[in-house]
Amino acid sequence: MKVTHKEAIDLLRAGEVVALPTETVYGLAACMNNPGAVEKIYRLKNRPTDNPLIVHIANQEQLSTIASQFPPHTDILIKHFWPGPLTFLLGADMDRVPGIVRANLPNIAVRMPQHPLILEILQSTGPLVAPSANLSGKPSATSVQDVEEDFGLDFPVVDGGFCSKGVESTILYFQENLWKIARLGALSPEQLATVLGYVPEIQKARTSQPICPGQHYRHYAPRAKLYLGYEGYMGFSGAVLGFPEREYPNAHQIFHLSPINDPDLALHHLYHYLRELDRQNIEEIWVDCNFPRVGLFLTLHERLQRAANVDMKGDLTI
Ligand code: TXA
Ligand code: MG
Repeated sequence: MKVTHKEAIDLLRAGEVVALPTETVYGLAACMNNPGAVEKIYRLKNRPTDNPLIVHIANQEQLSTIASQFPPHTDILIKHFWPGPLTFLLGADMDRVPGIVRANLPNIAVRMPQHPLILEILQSTGPLVAPSANLSGKPSATSVQDVEEDFGLDFPVVDGGFCSKGVESTILYFQENLWKIARLGALSPEQLATVLGYVPEIQKARTSQPICPGQHYRHYAPRAKLYLGYEGYMGFSGAVLGFPEREYPNAHQIFHLSPINDPDLALHHLYHYLRELDRQNIEEIWVDCNFPRVGLFLTLHERLQRAANVDMKGDLTI
């Protein structure tokens, strides 16, 4: 059920959960300081309680109320990339950030999103937690239709159109004097390097103790079985997810992600297509993964591996 941003503010203040648009994906939002409301999010999503939530803020004053220690270069990263798809893991002010928000970890994840509607709402409500607005394990929601599919037509959602990025924020953490990537996302390692002066290392995906507990879980998965191709098209006769410049002679149905040189656009479409496979009851699909492992293609490849439930052997860059 679409609600205005004013109605959303009232609902949030009353301890309700509302789906809000961001530039990355839709978020399932609740007031950070209302543990009862935060708990509803875990229940609604069917999310394990050891998987903490990102705090969203509208300005630097709100940041100073939840974190007090900032590693070197935090300020310059904020200046370049906020508002935008960059999340920091920072030492939490434990007295001010409820344990349920951070799964009792000593850190919080925080970002300032770019969509004008959520920024306006955040100005009135203060910090909001917002995981992606999908049932746990499913592809993230990038439109009102996706939110309604997972949470029902009566669920309150602010319509911000189709999310411009279409994939989640990049998550950074600071370790051994360097910034590192805990989750690939809408901001590429190379874009971060223009500010940091070095390309941040990417944390191995399947370690026993990932920095982000969410990296443990299967994600972004449609019901359809995805087969990832590495060596070029092998003549698969079912549905194909690929690129318009390529030919897939035996394919019955082809979904074009984007022109081959446009990973931004491929990410913008990815979750929409993954959900579309289920809407069309497609059971199997071959995915053309013959693209370079650089820039936002790294994010594309990582999300496809997760959607296919491939054993990544801890190495994201092959
Ligand atoms: O773009 C985004 O980041 C979207 C939009 C809605 O802002 N949000 C999002 O949230 O992707 P979610 O919950 O789907 O993914 C958050 C990830 C999870 O892997 C979680 O484990 C990690 O961030 N995370 C959150 N808080 C953390 C914390 N305190 N310490 C370590 N990891 C944390
Ligand atoms: Mg998520």
